[in-house]
Amino acid sequence: MKQNIFIIIGAALVTSLSSCWMKSGGNDTGYEYAPDMYYSKGYEPMSQFSDSSKYRYNPYFMTMREPVKGSVAIGQLDYQYPFDNTAEGYEASASLQMPGLTLNEQIEGERLFGIYCAVCHGEKGGNDGTVASKQASMKPSWANYQDKYVKELPVGKIYHTITYGKNNMGSYASAVTPKDRWAIIAYVKRLSMMDSLGNMPKAVYIESAPVAAAVVPDTAKNPVPAIPANSSSSTSNHSNHNKH
Ligand code: HEC
Repeated sequence: MKQNIFIIIGAALVTSLSSCWMKSGGNDTGYEYAPDMYYSKGYEPMSQFSDSSKYRYNPYFMTMREPVKGSVAIGQLDYQYPFDNTAEGYEASASLQMPGLTLNEQIEGERLFGIYCAVCHGEKGGNDGTVASKQASMKPSWANYQDKYVKELPVGKIYHTITYGKNNMGSYASAVTPKDRWAIIAYVKRLSMMDSLGNMPKAVYIESAPVAAAVVPDTAKNPVPAIPANSSSSTSNHSNHNKH
C-alpha cells in the first residue's frame, strides 16, 4: 500500500514538473524524448540540411539534387525533346517527322484522343466538345479539324503543341508519352482528311513509313535538321560541322 502511494506521488511529481519546465513554446522546442522519432537519421528527400558537421557527405546540404543537365533516365531516350517552348522552337518543330505506327497504335491514338482532346476538340474534331461548347475561349480560331489549317499543319508542330501546349491549350506532356503523342497525331491527321460524309482513311503513316529521328541526343539545343527519308549522306557534312 505504502509502495503504491509513492508511485502515485512520483508520477504526479514528474507530470507537474514536466508541464512546468519541459513545455514547448515560443522559440523553445521543449524537452524532446527520443528525438530520433522527430528527426529521421536517414536523408529525407524533401528537406535541406544546414548542419554541415552532421551531413558532411553532402557538402551543399542538399538531399535531393537536380540531375546533371542532359541526363536521361534509363529507357526514356524518347523523352528528350530538342526544341524550346518558344516561337522559334515551334517553327523548328516542323522538321520532326512522324515515326511509322502500327494499326493497333493508331487505334490506341484514337482512344486517347477521346480521353484527352475530345472535351475541347470534339470526337470528330468539330471543336464542339463539352468544354469548348460552354467556354468560347477553348475554341481555336479555325472551325474544325477538317479546316485547311489542320490539313496543312506539319505533324511536328502538333507534337510541339501537345508537348508544351499553345495559348489556351495546356501541355499534355505529363499525361501522354511521346509514342502516344504520335499515335494521337495520326488520328488528328485522319480527322483532317474526313470528307463531308464522315469517311476517313482507316490509318495513316503505317509502320513501313520511314522513321525519322525525333530524338537526337547530342544536339539537345540545336534544331534537328530535317532528314530526307532516302538520303543520309546529304546531312553528314552538316552534323560533322556541329561537333565544333
Ligand atoms: C482545354 C481545351 C483543349 C484541349 C483539352 C485540347 N486542346 Fe488543342 N487546342 C485548344 C485551343 C484553344 C487551341 C488553339 C490554340 C491557339 O492557337 O491559340 C488548340 C490548338 C490545337 C491544335 C493546333 C495547334 C497549332 O499548332 O496551331 C492542335 C493540332 C490541337 N489543339 C490538338 C489537340 C490534341 C491532340 C489534344 C489532346 C492531346 C488537344 N488539342 C487538347 C484547346 C484544347
